[in-house]
Amino acid sequence: MTLFENKKLHFSDSKKTIKDYKSGEKIDVYLKIQGITKKTKKDGSPYLTLELMDKSGKVSAKIWENADHYFKNLQEGGIYKVSGFVGEYMNQKDIRIDVIRALGPRDTDFDETDFVEKPAFDTRETFDEMIDFMKSHLSNPFLLQLADLFATEHGDKFKNHYGAQKIHHSYIGGLLEHTYSIMKLAVLCSEHYKLDKELVLTGVLFHDIGKVYEFNVNPAVEVTIEGGLLGHLIIGNTKFLELKSRINGFPEDLSCKIQHLIISHHGEKEFGSPEVPKIPEAFLLHILDLLDSKLKIVEEALNNSEVKGLFSDYVQVLGRRLYVPPKG
Ligand SMILES: [Fe+2]
Ligand SMILES: [Fe+2]
Repeated sequence: MTLFENKKLHFSDSKKTIKDYKSGEKIDVYLKIQGITKKTKKDGSPYLTLELMDKSGKVSAKIWENADHYFKNLQEGGIYKVSGFVGEYMNQKDIRIDVIRALGPRDTDFDETDFVEKPAFDTRETFDEMIDFMKSHLSNPFLLQLADLFATEHGDKFKNHYGAQKIHHSYIGGLLEHTYSIMKLAVLCSEHYKLDKELVLTGVLFHDIGKVYEFNVNPAVEVTIEGGLLGHLIIGNTKFLELKSRINGFPEDLSCKIQHLIISHHGEKEFGSPEVPKIPEAFLLHILDLLDSKLKIVEEALNNSEVKGLFSDYVQVLGRRLYVPPKG
């Protein structure tokens, strides 16, 4: 085999998708930019980190040279032709971009729909299932009304949103998956600990609704003004108050407890909660939220790691390497 043939073998075609990238290979593909951040190298010069996506998934990338030029000219939400090298950083695939250019008239060998993120499950069906599940555990007429109002007012945006900008559940349907998962656990735990199940379920439903307004996911994942200045706990609380105001005679003490669950669900003031949990139901919501996000982070880290030994690379958000049982 000649050197030329060897090189050709490792050069992927433009139809290759992110999930097929292998460490060590060169790519020359179309990708959509979801996010661009300018950072500073140790020597003080700038570089860029990019979040890139296609319909198969997402990947991080870096541009080490001409960062100021690219930062000025690249647009979040735009599709570009990207040539580079697939490496690894912090246990994840990471592209070193050599050339990235805007599309020209000759770039016809791709389809716009290749860059539309598709949820992995039927979000409409799952959302309806979640609301039905919740209502089957409710008897309080005010909370039943609130669940219906939530569905009509926020349902469409909620089911098409991410669970987080990065780190866990950051895909369409992620917020729904996360919320429904906690809801199922909330029923089991509320019954086990003899807590107010209806209060916990309502807190679960509203706890992350603020994320829908905290950051946009299309055309790029980007924090909104109210997201950056208020955060999703305060926004979520406001959304609850808006809906509650449409229900005549909603009990004040119940309203106060629901608000408490929403604003205390991060558990500690240093994690963004204006108040810490002070009733058992709020402790439960906080713990279940943490449980669901932590286990998702572990699952995603294990799924994304290409392991050579028994342990994954360092997973920064968990502060450790994970044991990966040998396959087979
Ligand atoms: Fe949250
Ligand atoms: Fe959450």
